[in-house]
Amino acid sequence: MVNITPPLHHSIAPGPLLLAIETSCDETAIAVLRGRELLASEVASQVAAHQPYGGVVPEVASRHHLQHAPRLLERAVELAGISLGEVDAFAATGGPGLASSLMIGASLAKGLALGFGKPYLAINHLEGHLLSPFFSSGGGIEPNVSLIVSGGHTLLVEVNGVSDYRILGRTVDDAAGEAFDKVAKMLGLGYPGGPEIERCAAGGDPNRFDLPRSMLHSGDANFSFSGLKTAVRYLLPKLLVIPTEREGSHDATSELVRSLGVFAPMDDSVLRDLCASFQRAVVDVLVAKTVTAARAARRKLVTVSGGVSCNRELRAQMSLGCERAGLELHFAEPQLCTDNAAMIAFAAMLRRERGEATPLTTEINPNLALA
Ligand code: KG4
Ligand code: ZN
Repeated sequence: MVNITPPLHHSIAPGPLLLAIETSCDETAIAVLRGRELLASEVASQVAAHQPYGGVVPEVASRHHLQHAPRLLERAVELAGISLGEVDAFAATGGPGLASSLMIGASLAKGLALGFGKPYLAINHLEGHLLSPFFSSGGGIEPNVSLIVSGGHTLLVEVNGVSDYRILGRTVDDAAGEAFDKVAKMLGLGYPGGPEIERCAAGGDPNRFDLPRSMLHSGDANFSFSGLKTAVRYLLPKLLVIPTEREGSHDATSELVRSLGVFAPMDDSVLRDLCASFQRAVVDVLVAKTVTAARAARRKLVTVSGGVSCNRELRAQMSLGCERAGLELHFAEPQLCTDNAAMIAFAAMLRRERGEATPLTTEINPNLALA
């Protein structure tokens, strides 16, 4: 259940030693960063625990954080080859996220800061994603238009520097990752849905089903994905086979299956083409809106981060779209796309370098805004 993310190694550069904890949703993660050198980045995934429910169950998530955090802390410190007493500052995600999950990471970081007499930094989870494309370059933050695409958020942000953010647009309903997860659930695929849909879409025809590109020409930088999800829902009964009643019997399983609206796929090629068409519809909107927003904001650089930015179709189409528009493009490295503590450590490091610290009395905020 514990996935160990291989550390990213930059050139050895001295700098403050920072330990960061991320528990905003369903990954328990701890990272140790010295300057720009990532010494450890541990992620304990809870996917198996939430899979039976087809989504994250908050109480299950917080129990897992409680269970895994101490072990992960021990392992991160050991891998980094440091002692907790050497750490110069402790950071945690302060929001947005699930309240009961955020509390565990923030309490642990505050306790360590208090115990070792070091500063505490509460980091906005979205800022962690937003700055993550710059982690690998090891340099400063260049002005850019940033697309954050995760399970909880779809945001376009004008970034002028650390802590200087202007929201250009956001989803008015489902986040892009949420749409992947919900459609995957409808199709009887596993959780999280993004990687499952991407896997099923491989080799599929993205033009077979004409699915909506909502708000493509809305004239603003907002997104909407719930119409697309509904379009897939209405399409399903036409494509899939409803399990038929067995001759003369009303067996309970078939009844339940029918009442839940669960269908069996007609054949693999339909599923493949449907996944490819859905994926292409999401990607088309993300690419078009991002390119338009970057042009309108007169930015030369586009950055993309968050769990959905793992998606290879998004990476390929965004690269194409930006190239055509003469825009430079930075993606977060794949191991920094889904939730992790390295991105929280990096954001905390940039803020610490500006002399920032968060009072220990600051509470977590499940609805914390980026700007
Ligand atoms: O950033 P993240 O780990 O957590 C949040 O902050 O929400 O993003 C998780 C989301 C999930 O909705 C998951 O389905 C989606 O990212 N995701 C993907 C892929 N990998 C993860 N979506 C599309 N394609 C992928 N390969
Ligand atoms: Zn996230």
